[in-house]
Amino acid sequence: MVRLSFNLEETFVDTPKGIHRIRNLPDATLRQLWDSIVIEAETKKQLHAQAILNFTVRKRVPRTVLPLHGIIFLVGPPGTGKTSLARGLADRVARSFDGAKIRLLEVDPHVLGSSAMGKTQKAVSELFSQTIAEAAMAGPIIVLLDEVETLATDRTKLSLDANPVDIHRATDAVLTQLDDLAEKYPDILFVATSNFPDAVDAAFSSRCDLILEVPLPNADACKQILKDCLTRIGEAYPAIGSIAASPLFSRCAAECVGLDGRAIRKTVANAMAATVETAANPNSMSADMLLEALKAAKANRKKGGA
Ligand SMILES: Nc1ncnc2c1ncn2[C@@H]1O[C@H](COP(=O)(O)OP(=O)(O)O)[C@@H](O)[C@H]1O
Ligand SMILES: [Mg+2]
Repeated sequence: MVRLSFNLEETFVDTPKGIHRIRNLPDATLRQLWDSIVIEAETKKQLHAQAILNFTVRKRVPRTVLPLHGIIFLVGPPGTGKTSLARGLADRVARSFDGAKIRLLEVDPHVLGSSAMGKTQKAVSELFSQTIAEAAMAGPIIVLLDEVETLATDRTKLSLDANPVDIHRATDAVLTQLDDLAEKYPDILFVATSNFPDAVDAAFSSRCDLILEVPLPNADACKQILKDCLTRIGEAYPAIGSIAASPLFSRCAAECVGLDGRAIRKTVANAMAATVETAANPNSMSADMLLEALKAAKANRKKGGA
C-alpha cells in the first residue's frame, strides 16, 4: 500500500499582489539548490561576486561614476538551472553578509498576462513603485524576475495590431521603474531569467550589470548531474544509487549529452516508472531500464529539434 502525504503549510502564504513568494534568508533549502546545480565553478563565482558587489559598492559610489542598476540576467535554454541558480544565489549572498536580514521576493511572472486590458501598466507600476519599494525600505532585498520576457517584452517585435498597446506601456513602465528603484534603493538586487533572450527588450538588457549565459551541460556536467541524481535517490532506494557505480553508468552518462539538467533528472524518474512494478518498487529498476529511458529521451529531443 502506498501512503501519500502532502505539506500544505507553504501553499497558502499571504503575499502582496504580484509577488508569489517571500523568503527570509539564509535558507537551507536554497543552499542545497545552489549546490545541486552543476555548472562551471567560474560561472558560480562570477555570479556570486557580482551579487556581492551590488550590495557593497552601489551605496558608496555615485551612479554617474558606475551606472549600476542592480540587475543580473541569466539566459539560456529551458531546464539549465537558471531559476535554481537565481534562488540559490540569494541564499549565497545572504550568507556572505553574515547577520544581514536579506529577503527574497519572487515576482509572479504572469502578473502581466493575468491582468485585464488597461490594467497591466498600472499593475506593473504598482508592483515596482509600491510593493518592491516598500519591501526595500524595510531592508535589503533580492528580487527574482523569473521569465522576464513576460515583463519586459521586446517592443520592436510587437505589432500594434496584434498586441495591446498596453504591453508596450507595461514594458516602458518596467524600465522607468527599474531606473527609479536603482536611483533610490542601492540595497536591491534583481536577478532576472529568460529562456527567450531575443524576446526581451534591448533597453532591459542594456540595464543589466551582468548578463550570463547558462548553457546546456557538457559531457562532464551531464555525468555529474546523473551521478548526483542517482546517488541522492539511492538514499531512499539503494539499488538505484548503486547504478552510479555500475558498468553501464558511463554509457548512461554519455546518452545524457544534449539533454538539459531538468530532462536528465526527469528521465531518471521516467525510468523508475518504466513499469507498474518498478514504479511501486523503484529498487527493482535496472541500469538497462535507465539506458533505454535516456535513449528515448534523446530520440525525442532530436525529433523535437528537427
Ligand atoms: N546544471 C544543472 N545541474 C544540476 N541540475 C540541474 C541543472 N540544470 C537543471 N537542473 C535540474 O533541473 C531543475 C529545473 O531547473 P531550473 O532552475 O528550473 O531551470 P531553468 O530555470 O533554467 O528552466 C532543477 O531543479 C535541477 O534539479
Ligand atoms: Mg526557470
